Amino acid sequence: MEALGARLAALLHAGDVVLLNGELGAGKTTLTRGLGAALGARGAITSPTFVLARTHPTASGVPLVHVDAYRLASAAEVDDLDLDLDGSITVVEWGADKLDGAIDSWLALDIERPHGGDPASDDAPRHVRLTPHGPRWDGLRLPPET
Ligand SMILES: Nc1ncnc2c1ncn2[C@@H]1O[C@H](COP(=O)(O)OP(=O)(O)OP(=O)(O)O)[C@@H](O)[C@H]1O
Ligand SMILES: [Mg+2]
Repeated sequence: MEALGARLAALLHAGDVVLLNGELGAGKTTLTRGLGAALGARGAITSPTFVLARTHPTASGVPLVHVDAYRLASAAEVDDLDLDLDGSITVVEWGADKLDGAIDSWLALDIERPHGGDPASDDAPRHVRLTPHGPRWDGLRLPPET
């Protein structure tokens, strides 16, 4: 999952938004950690349970903003965070349907644990479906695995 995050990171520029969907323990934060490491993000990337959005400076100067929208009920509440979507790379856990109207392009990742059960003891490979939305992601090509 970290490796997938790193491959994704290679594509990301200021203004890009990645929405991560998938149940508790699916691997959303784990993927974000790999993505952050590849961007040279400073600060630990953790599940921001009590922090709705955390900004990590990165090596390129474009900050990585990691949002946990689990507790946010609507697009209006996300709007209240006053995110700098244009100037950042924004990764939103539980982001489906919560950025309506604010963006015209985003990359959605749906992460599944094929075996279900207790997430704490599930080391099985995850299934990830990548769905590009909007003009930004026309012709999307994920860099190969290294
Ligand atoms: N192949 C895998 N991919 C992702 N995580 C895995 C994998 N195998 C085991 N894990 C473990 O599953 C857990 C995933 O937790 P993580 O915090 O990334 O999930 P999350 O989707 O962010 O959950 P939450 O909804 O609670 O924020 C971690 O403990 C991780 O070590
Ligand atoms: Mg998480």
